[in-house]
Amino acid sequence: MKTLYFITGNKGKALEAKMKFSVLDIEIIQKDIGYPEIQADTLQEVARFGVDYLQKKVKYPFIIEDAGLFIDALDGFPGVYSAYVFYKIGCDGILKLLENVEHGKRKATFRSVYAYSEPGKKPLLFAGECKGTISKRVIGGHGFGYDPIFIPEYHAKTFAQMSTEEKNEFSHRGKSLEKLINYFKNI
Ligand code: IMP
Repeated sequence: MKTLYFITGNKGKALEAKMKFSVLDIEIIQKDIGYPEIQADTLQEVARFGVDYLQKKVKYPFIIEDAGLFIDALDGFPGVYSAYVFYKIGCDGILKLLENVEHGKRKATFRSVYAYSEPGKKPLLFAGECKGTISKRVIGGHGFGYDPIFIPEYHAKTFAQMSTEEKNEFSHRGKSLEKLINYFKNI
């Protein structure tokens, strides 16, 4: 069995990757090493900086992942600042910012980027997204972060009303992870 390190402080993300990679006989080991998350417009830029920074220190194959919620009515905010904004104002703060925004104008997109690094090679990026709308109130008890206010397209419930398995079937991270897995299947 091969080993692939997942550099993240998020146990949930590591577990999700662990489950998906087990079918390929690749063991995911979580490593909680911090790395800088730069201020940029896109997750790709953030992930690229992070993976380049880590590649100079880490001499084994690893992956990282960055995600964010981009709200149309707020010109893409919180986007790459999603973690900090969640920490500061949470779902209630976002709902307040959208207080006067009517139902048809509450579109948002969750985005995720995985970066894969092998020593001495150019890192590879794998992106996924999930479109949806921001609900009028906090609904559901599952998941984490902005899950209770995000209703994915073609669904009537929030991510927080779904089981992790159901959410991951079509979530932003589910899709980027699927691309990463396919890359490993083909090499
Ligand atoms: P990070 O990539 O883990 O730093 O994620 C940035 C922030 O986006 C997190 O702090 C969460 O609040 C939010 N986020 C990322 N992915 C999800 C998700 O699948 N559901 C809900 N919130 C998410």
